[in-house]
Amino acid sequence: MTTEIINSNDKKSMQRAAELIKDGQIVAFPTETVYGLAANAYDESAVSKIFEAKGRPSDNPLIVHIENIGMLDDIAVGVPDDFYMLYEKFMPGPLTVILHKNTKICKAVTAGLDTVAVRFPRHRTAAELIKKSGCPLAAPSANLSEHVSPTTASHVFDDLNGRIPMIIDGGECSVGIESTVLDMSGDNPVILRPGAITYDMIRKVIGGVSEPKKDCKAVGFPAKSPGMKYRHYSPRVKLTLVKAADAAAALYDDAYNEGKRAVIISRASSVASLGGRNVFSIPDDPKGYAKKIYALLRLAEETADLIICEEPDSSGAGNSIINRLQKAAH
Ligand code: TXA
Ligand code: MG
Repeated sequence: MTTEIINSNDKKSMQRAAELIKDGQIVAFPTETVYGLAANAYDESAVSKIFEAKGRPSDNPLIVHIENIGMLDDIAVGVPDDFYMLYEKFMPGPLTVILHKNTKICKAVTAGLDTVAVRFPRHRTAAELIKKSGCPLAAPSANLSEHVSPTTASHVFDDLNGRIPMIIDGGECSVGIESTVLDMSGDNPVILRPGAITYDMIRKVIGGVSEPKKDCKAVGFPAKSPGMKYRHYSPRVKLTLVKAADAAAALYDDAYNEGKRAVIISRASSVASLGGRNVFSIPDDPKGYAKKIYALLRLAEETADLIICEEPDSSGAGNSIINRLQKAAH
């Protein structure tokens, strides 16, 4: 299969993208977090193509993307009042909520669970694709299973060329890490995956919410969120995290002496102290860091045997990024 890349500003091409979805095909599209790989959430055979193209285990459920709140009734039942508080504050935006599912959503989407993940993306092109397709879109991140999530159309192409018919190019994603996943299907809301909408932000709106565990291996509840048991977000070469530039320099020099090719992803403020080494600079602030980290991991894996990554500081969404990096580290 040839994979066509279309421009999100081209109305005719966008119409063709929607026709593919209506026809039971899959299409990669931009969201504000990362690129997704979409199928009609009501079409079992279309959804199965997502799992096939990504090499994704069938017990890992997908997020259902909507573009207006009226679509929710067909997807979820027994929606708690607190959901609507979060909706007012954060949607559209990088927050996914787990609710009890409506039986209209096909089994493949939810991997047989009685809950469903719902997200209302903030990206104009994502909204347009959902509207033109006339159905909610089931979509995981548009990477090969276990690889780093894509934040540009060319990242998607690198992973899925020949496996999907179309990629909608909408430029670089503005957030850069996947949405926060909040489970509201139980008695107390629990964050299963931290993201740009942080624990503090959610707590301010609905009060009680359980914080993500600091130990990344404990994040998520295997029985609740099957995806958490799989290795995620990993570059193809070894990744080591460090808290400060001097530790990065020491690891780099050891690797160099062993004849290995290392790359340091260094906060901009540390670059000057790493002179003479192979360094990719990343913004210090968590927002800027999140936007660039996946692109830099993908770039680094092209040329290095070892990626040494200086963590962002833990303010704001910093902890969410650290969670992702810990899961990616070997
Ligand atoms: O930002 C995002 O969330 C991106 C964009 C494309 O929307 N999507 C994304 O999807 O990151 P994915 O499939 O890569 O990650 C979704 C996570 C997985 O860990 C999955 O196991 C979990 O959400 N999940 C989905 N449905 C669930 C459910 N019913 N119960 C618990 N966890 C669920
Ligand atoms: Mg993913």
